[in-house]
Amino acid sequence: EYPEFVKIVEVGPRDGLQNEKEIVPTEVKVQLIDRLSDTGLSVIEATSFVSSKWVPQMADHTEVLQGIRKSPNVRYPVLTPNMHGFQNALAAGATEVAVFGSASETFSRKNINCSIDESMLRFEEVLNAAKDQQIPVRGYVSCALGCPHEGPIDPSKVTEVAKRLYEMGCYEVSLGDTVGVGTPGSMAAMLRSVTREVPCRALAVHCHDTYGQALANILTALQMGVCVVDSAVAGLGGCPYAQGSSGNVSTEDVLYMLHGMGIQTGVDLSKMIAVGDFICHSLNRKTNSRVAQARGSQ
Ligand code: HMG
Ligand code: MG
Repeated sequence: EYPEFVKIVEVGPRDGLQNEKEIVPTEVKVQLIDRLSDTGLSVIEATSFVSSKWVPQMADHTEVLQGIRKSPNVRYPVLTPNMHGFQNALAAGATEVAVFGSASETFSRKNINCSIDESMLRFEEVLNAAKDQQIPVRGYVSCALGCPHEGPIDPSKVTEVAKRLYEMGCYEVSLGDTVGVGTPGSMAAMLRSVTREVPCRALAVHCHDTYGQALANILTALQMGVCVVDSAVAGLGGCPYAQGSSGNVSTEDVLYMLHGMGIQTGVDLSKMIAVGDFICHSLNRKTNSRVAQARGSQ
């Protein structure tokens, strides 16, 4: 009943680092991605082409994308909220992008400064341009299990936005628990609704671990047929426009759980722990990964 193989989408270099207050040197970002490229991952979200006034940490997007060693086995999507970002991403050599919408009207305005409907028009432009260039586009739905401003979000709203992104041409739609407030109960209810409109094989879950529910929520999603999981090495991160949200679920912990269940990922856990050590050492902080903590204390 569980999938045999789960694709991990590593979002640490983007979702992880975007929330760091002190600017992380470009060289560290490049090294992080290069090291992640050697762990067996097939997708690493590298950076975002957003406004540097809004997210100063991602201002070096071009340098990062051009500085990394691109492994032929890895895809390196970047976030593009509009045509401006898409064109800059293309000029920097991006071969895959992601648009990011929200199931919450308030969060949409705070995060990308426009309504949900306006964002969909912008994304449509990006998808049309991407189609011409044969660039695959991933889509995100933020606040899929709750909004920092509006509280609980109706599964029908998540479904509506996910369906629009999928029908627009996003090959995969990642359902984001931006604040990490979801539980297996709300995850199951949301997925029951979304899978009526979007095929399960086109869905991913993106869990933040603020309330310690991420692994339980991921397990619930796997039981319901989802086989793509977003995570961040060392559990880095959080969204700068979602106050109180902590990091993504750590890639190490997801790998430990999946491999323990006999589910393959193609990713080497020991190598991932070593990359976690590298980035925590560079940022001078403790890892959020329980598995890395346990291994480190052995
Ligand atoms: P805006 O101010 O409404 O944009 O920002 P605008 O179109 O009115 O333009 C204003 C200025 O920004 C202009 O420059 C534009 O050229 C420039 P000026 O004429 O003043 O010199 N501009 C840009 N510059 C660089 N890149 C661009 C771009 N677009 C316009 N792409 C915008 C709209 C979307 C750009 C802004 O709100 C923004 O950058 N927001 C950042 C959002 C963000 O990065 N959030 C974090 C990622 S989302 C997330 O973490 C959630 C997720 O992980 C899933 C989950 O956890 O749920 C994905
Ligand atoms: Mg996120």
